[in-house]
Amino acid sequence: MKIVAVINQKGGVGKTTTTVNVGAALARLGRKVLLLDLDPQSNLTLHVDQRPELESATLTQLLVEDRPLRDLVLATRTEGLFVVPTDSTLGGVEQVLANRIGRETILREAFDAYDGDVKFDYVLVDCPPSLGVLSANALVAANEVLIPMQTEYFSLQGMAKLTEVIDLVKRRLNPSLDVLCVLPCMVDLRTRLTTEVLENISAYFGDRLARNLIRNNVKLAEAPSFGLTIFEHAPDSNGAEDYWEFAREFLERHGETISDAELYAAAGYEVEAEAETEVGAGQEAAPDPNPPVATAEEGQPSPDGTA
Ligand SMILES: Nc1ncnc2c1ncn2[C@@H]1O[C@H](COP(=O)(O)OP(=O)(O)OP(=O)(O)O)[C@@H](O)[C@H]1O
Ligand SMILES: [Mg+2]
Repeated sequence: MKIVAVINQKGGVGKTTTTVNVGAALARLGRKVLLLDLDPQSNLTLHVDQRPELESATLTQLLVEDRPLRDLVLATRTEGLFVVPTDSTLGGVEQVLANRIGRETILREAFDAYDGDVKFDYVLVDCPPSLGVLSANALVAANEVLIPMQTEYFSLQGMAKLTEVIDLVKRRLNPSLDVLCVLPCMVDLRTRLTTEVLENISAYFGDRLARNLIRNNVKLAEAPSFGLTIFEHAPDSNGAEDYWEFAREFLERHGETISDAELYAAAGYEVEAEAETEVGAGQEAAPDPNPPVATAEEGQPSPDGTA
């Protein structure tokens, strides 16, 4: 089980959108995936169509009352994709935990003790836009950090602070924590500023900058209001395509290779389109043009032969 904290203390950069859609793509590629909503705004919970007020247990009970993780895991509509939901009570948790010893390691301990039926390949933790106790819990529990980032003029500004916090957690509480990659989100490829900012991010992070990026796509912005992943809401959109490609890179960065055929089969529609073209081309090449020409050619010698 690899635990990945999806983190950036800057608000609205694409953390929740990335958590949901990378998670859904990995699940569609046959991996068992758990999404954990660590943000009191509950955006992720709503995005996968859960209504936390109807559920008896949320992440708050885990953090405050030591409720075991297995009690909180809910299935989603996507096979293989599970979620630990959150409601607004999580907003009070930082204060409740303020004086508790060991408050940063609660989530780590919950994962160490996890004995649920589903064995997860990947856990994606959607962090809030802040670097408080909740985010600290994510960084201590995680093996890796995934940083969604917008390609704006000021987007690198918070990075020094985030890198500092990651280094501190690494030094004191979680020595094996690693930066998986930085993913540019909501990218507008038409502007020169984008190119410049991407160059700066690349200079700062080197090969930690993802090879893929997520373009600005209105379907990605619409999907949460329907409680749908991008693959349910708009499987043909640029948004779906970008998250498929990044999910492939995500797995590659974990040493798992995904072929085109495997990716297209998971996406469903593309492999059918290809198969049709291939069959069509094959049929055209053999029976249609050749026999009439062949009969015509054969027809000529035979009158010659008879003549
Ligand atoms: N590639 C994209 N193209 C267009 N809109 C997007 C894209 N990615 C995300 N959005 C939209 O931008 C807004 C912010 O995205 P998101 O909620 O994923 O960011 P966040 O970092 O989780 O925000 P917060 O810090 O508030 O938790 C949302 O309305 C989302 O639907
Ligand atoms: Mg969010």
